[in-house]
Amino acid sequence: MDIAVIGAGYVGLVTGVCLSDLGNQVTCIDINEEKVAMLKRGESPIYEEGLTELLQKNIQRGNLDFTTQYREGLANKRVIYIAVDTPQLEDGSANLTYINKATASIAEHLDHDAIIVTKSTVPMGTNEYIKERMESLLTHDITIKIASNPEFLRQGSAVYDTFNGDRIVIGSDDEEAMRVLTEINEGFNLPIVQTDLRSAEMIKYASNAFLATKISFINEIANLSEKTGANIQHVAKGMGMDKRIGSAFLNAGIGYGGSCFPKDTNALLSIGEQVNYSMPILKNTVYTNERQKGIIVDKMLERFDSLEGKKIAILGVAFKPNTDDMREAPSILITKRLLEEGANLRAYDPVATVNAKTILSEEIEFTTSVDEAVKGADVAVILTEWEDIKHYPLEKYKQHLSHPILFDGRNCFTVDEVKGQGVEYHSIGRPT
Ligand code: UGA
Repeated sequence: MDIAVIGAGYVGLVTGVCLSDLGNQVTCIDINEEKVAMLKRGESPIYEEGLTELLQKNIQRGNLDFTTQYREGLANKRVIYIAVDTPQLEDGSANLTYINKATASIAEHLDHDAIIVTKSTVPMGTNEYIKERMESLLTHDITIKIASNPEFLRQGSAVYDTFNGDRIVIGSDDEEAMRVLTEINEGFNLPIVQTDLRSAEMIKYASNAFLATKISFINEIANLSEKTGANIQHVAKGMGMDKRIGSAFLNAGIGYGGSCFPKDTNALLSIGEQVNYSMPILKNTVYTNERQKGIIVDKMLERFDSLEGKKIAILGVAFKPNTDDMREAPSILITKRLLEEGANLRAYDPVATVNAKTILSEEIEFTTSVDEAVKGADVAVILTEWEDIKHYPLEKYKQHLSHPILFDGRNCFTVDEVKGQGVEYHSIGRPT
């Protein structure tokens, strides 16, 4: 199948590369010239496991190409995926600026019948809006059909998730669009859910909102466990073995971050407001998450009356491991509060340092290893569970910290592992 993908960000690029790997003829269109030049050379602008290999393989065998030009990129393409960002506006709603731009550019250059597929996360009704708007802007007498095909990829394992996801959702009110999209997606060999446009749009928001709610729920239970003498790791294990609950996304910690859960929960709340429907559960998911980010600082303030002049090693700043993404990372609020309390911060992250320097305070000194961050510090705080942080030996904390005190925001160690090791250990939802 001849396919064009608009937007070579993390969703568009992974989608384009994986579709080309299935044997489709794919051209990715992105207005960023530097990015397109890099991609043409077979270099990925984002850190995603397995992506570079597939990118190079499919460029070489002639299945994958990149361009900044819509006319060239859309030529002969039967299916056109829109995979541009829908970031959050100040009022929480989804910003459709890039969707509008992509729609207008497709309408201007498309000169043959095509199926337009939205990958971007968009509010209910947006696909119909895209179709209407595009039809009003078309410069040729052609027919367009529309489908929604939301993505469920996690950053860091997006390629794996594309080939091993739990389901593929295709929404369309048009028979031909549904048939063609189903044919393309059968190549992934995963269960396919066929539905209407608005339900497909809702499935994406509801899935992210539900997962975010699961995290906030387990974080509340963690805080309560701590106050009542239970251990959240045991509690989550016991709960998760019930198939109706499921064990995934029951890791308590310092709250969720990233470019998806915060944005999509707020967008769904905003959609509710627009139709005059309040969503107290989701509202409190967001509230609990904000509170949870500060919990590790509260614990430190409880332990030491003041953090003035304390040297603190910050271990991990990315919103989760295996990504350099700093968007909505809990480390943003945590480091800000620690600096306000007068602490001196030295931070380490294996890949997010470059991005972190543009977002976090200049007062933070960055190191290139856990050792360097910990040496001479008074206390250490784990904020991201990277492998080298998770496996940093406890005896080294004892050796390098002036007071061997570890605050673990990601429960990297079990309580038993830490017992008798000479390290004072504070974590989330477990006895100290
Ligand atoms: C999320 C969803 O998992 C994907 O299915 C979805 O496609 C994607 O958003 C999107 O909408 O594009 P992502 O944001 O990459 O993916 O990251 P997750 O692995 O879901 O983690 C999100 C946050 O939740 C992280 O900050 C992580 O540390 C936190 N988390 C996750 C927990 O605190 N506890 C858990 O048990 C799981």
